[in-house]
Amino acid sequence: MLYRPFLPRVLAASSLLVMAAGLAQAQIVSSLSQNIWRIDASEEARDHALPSLSFADPGAREKFTPAVAPPREVPTFDRDASGKVRVHLEIDPGTSLYGTGEVPGPLLRNGRTSVNWNTDSYGYGIDTPSLYQSHPWVLGVRADGSAFGVLADTTWRTAIDLTQGITIVADGPEFPVIVFEAPHPEMVVRRLTQLIGRIDLPPLWALGYHQCRYSYFPDARVREIAREFRERKIPCDVIWMDIDYMKGYRCFTFDDQHFPDPAALNADLHTQGFHTVWMIDPGIKAEPGYSVFDQGSGAEAWVQASDKSTPFKGEVWPGACVFPDFTSAAVRAWWAGLYKDFLAKGIDGVWNDMNEPAVFKVESKTMPEDNWHRADDALGGPGPHAQYHNVYGMLMVKATREGVLAANPDKRPFVLSRASFTGGHRYGAAWTGDNVADWTHLDWSIPMTLNLGLSGQPFAGPDIGGFVGNGDAALYKRWIGIGALLPFARGHTGKENIDKEPWAFGPEVEATARRGIERRYVLMPYIYSLFWKASKTGSPVVMPVFFADPANPDLRAEDDAFLLGDAMLVRCRTTPGADREPAMPRGLWRKFDLRDRIPGDHTDPDLPELYIRGGTIIPSGPVMQHTGATPLEPLTLIVCPDLNGRAQGGMYEDAGEGFAYRAGATRVVGYAVTRTREGVYVLRRTAEEGEYKPGPRSIRVVLVTDEGMFSAQGLDGVSIEIDPAKARRID
Ligand code: NOJ
Repeated sequence: MLYRPFLPRVLAASSLLVMAAGLAQAQIVSSLSQNIWRIDASEEARDHALPSLSFADPGAREKFTPAVAPPREVPTFDRDASGKVRVHLEIDPGTSLYGTGEVPGPLLRNGRTSVNWNTDSYGYGIDTPSLYQSHPWVLGVRADGSAFGVLADTTWRTAIDLTQGITIVADGPEFPVIVFEAPHPEMVVRRLTQLIGRIDLPPLWALGYHQCRYSYFPDARVREIAREFRERKIPCDVIWMDIDYMKGYRCFTFDDQHFPDPAALNADLHTQGFHTVWMIDPGIKAEPGYSVFDQGSGAEAWVQASDKSTPFKGEVWPGACVFPDFTSAAVRAWWAGLYKDFLAKGIDGVWNDMNEPAVFKVESKTMPEDNWHRADDALGGPGPHAQYHNVYGMLMVKATREGVLAANPDKRPFVLSRASFTGGHRYGAAWTGDNVADWTHLDWSIPMTLNLGLSGQPFAGPDIGGFVGNGDAALYKRWIGIGALLPFARGHTGKENIDKEPWAFGPEVEATARRGIERRYVLMPYIYSLFWKASKTGSPVVMPVFFADPANPDLRAEDDAFLLGDAMLVRCRTTPGADREPAMPRGLWRKFDLRDRIPGDHTDPDLPELYIRGGTIIPSGPVMQHTGATPLEPLTLIVCPDLNGRAQGGMYEDAGEGFAYRAGATRVVGYAVTRTREGVYVLRRTAEEGEYKPGPRSIRVVLVTDEGMFSAQGLDGVSIEIDPAKARRID
């Protein structure tokens, strides 16, 4: 029986007569809120729609009223030759298309096709149809810069075809299409997150630089890596443990020879200011006597084969495995409970991998589509794997997050997941899977992260340096400076590869890597404020350059540069040889650098160029070795006055960990700069809110002008004057 979240409504929704593929179909256009529509193929389809797994509050999709007018781009529903549901939207000439989640290749998606079917896509290329995550979502930006978005609210496989308008063909039953409209694309993304939710504020340490490889092994090697970072003074917050820490790849176990005392290892790393993240996969070794297998079998926790009564077995790292059925709340609760003892070893964060779920030695790379899930009614009730495949990873991460939180209720959970679905950002961060150590993938790391952000996932980034293959010094040197300014910054590489730590390619590359990572730490007050903004408003942390100038057609395909928040533009060189100059938005953008705190920052050609928008202020801090190392002293405000000599900006801060921020232990400050008739700039604090009190603090102002950068010093809360004629010039 199909799930009915509510009793049939007596609401008279507007029906619209649309001609689709020669068929006249009356579809139902309802309103969910201002500028958000729900469109169903028919009244019957609406009444029988499966519940939403994307919406943060699935009930919100059911609270509709008749729409006064339809959206400008109206989806039409029909069936393709094989009987699949097809949704089509015509687009105006000059409309640029984005989003579609995790897709290989450039930012602009017009003319491209992709298939939403979570797939283990080791070493993917431009023609790989499906990566690890599914986001049936398209963002459209019209010629005039106004925008709309289309969400196909189904968990089943969807094929998105952007060759002629927007066409989405889906397996499974009819589903609602949610359409969003706004004058600016950033507002469309915000409206999307109004429904699919926003990230929780991550712990500050998770915004630091992360170091990983497949695998640091044994524990002595982990200690060595940590020591190298501190001795070489390369900032780093997190060291990662990949599968080889486990005993025979059994999840929640530790190899007693190579990781005999994980608690001591974590404690030692904590003493040096590191946090640790350890991997957990969904494939559970089918082996009587292994406690996780025994417990799960007793609880009938496994996904069933098509006979609906035998646990499905598929091969992954440990050999034959069973797979928890995360579509059941009881199974999720059991899984969450497994983290208590695990985290008691001092583990800080969890990495969920292989959760498409990946299955070895089968052509489909996953479990059969007719496997059976005993899903709760709230998710749509029992059904075949085809229905739940795309949300398997997301539901795993939901359970993991709940377990991590229950084990450490006073700490903010951090979970990274490979597989996900629209809405999965509520539970964990994302990385772009097994990319390749080549220039193409370095180039893609920007647009792939951007399109994830435009699909609701602001906390994402690539394997810096590339996972598949070695690459070389030149590639790594360029990648680290770019990756260090993307929201999730982690170096990682595959098992057989050469070392790829920041020092692995010799002293020259190490110097660049240090500078690149130091930039992230210097900009941390700004980056943290951007994550806070993402958690409050849904604005992505990094955004395409055209967001600064949406009606400018020359920027629509620009993806060698990105906006880090509203105030900063990062211009990258993504090719080894002759470099093109990424296009700039109109308006005032001044180049700046961090040479006042990072020696050599301005002379290093491998690092991206930094620009600050006229009229803005970027909060920044000192170089530090990890986010907990140094108090924010002084706070350096990088100021770029506009042509009238004015600038504005602000900062969010809190304890960086724990939940006191939810009870008001936050500090939101605003600053403004004006210019006197004599040409002297004056910085004032314009607002201060919240109960988090970091104590007295000095402020440095770095004024970015056409004549160079100047600095002045004072105390927070007291106005500071900067007279470029007299101020210290930063050389
Ligand atoms: C596949 C993941 O994508 C990769 O990052 C990881 O290192 C390996 N699995 C081993 O766990």
